[in-house]
Amino acid sequence: MIRVNKILKNSLFRSCMQEIDEAEKERIFCGHGIEHLLSVARIMHINALEENIRIDKEIIYAAALLHDIGRARAYRLHTDHAKESAEIAGMILEACGFEKAETDEIIYAVLHHNDSEKSSELCSLLRNADRLSRNCFACKAYEECNWSENKKNQGVSV
Ligand SMILES: [Fe+2]
Ligand SMILES: [Fe+2]
Repeated sequence: MIRVNKILKNSLFRSCMQEIDEAEKERIFCGHGIEHLLSVARIMHINALEENIRIDKEIIYAAALLHDIGRARAYRLHTDHAKESAEIAGMILEACGFEKAETDEIIYAVLHHNDSEKSSELCSLLRNADRLSRNCFACKAYEECNWSENKKNQGVSV
């Protein structure tokens, strides 16, 4: 996991994460801090193992760590956070030694993580884990949240 740990120490990653923490201080809905990113990574990894999907663990963790990295920039510019995340992810992945094909695979998943019309194995894993990581059943902002009843997690599932 050498390259994943490089992401965690990358200065652009860290400054984006700090900006997200600051921007979401007063947010009542789900946040996008490191706990969310690591929950997504772990759920992706578990589901990949259970479903026999053979994707390198570093690719899984990199996609999870970077999928919301453009949140603060998107809040600031009123743009799409998946697009911002994909752009920033490209720079971080290159700096952390990911190869072109790996970077393309991760960026595709990040860019389309909220778009059910576009998919790849990594993208589906990411989209599912992103939703499953949310504890809607115990959320104080359950009523105010704009997720549909179907999308909200009513309990623990896989
Ligand atoms: Fe997202
Ligand atoms: Fe997310």
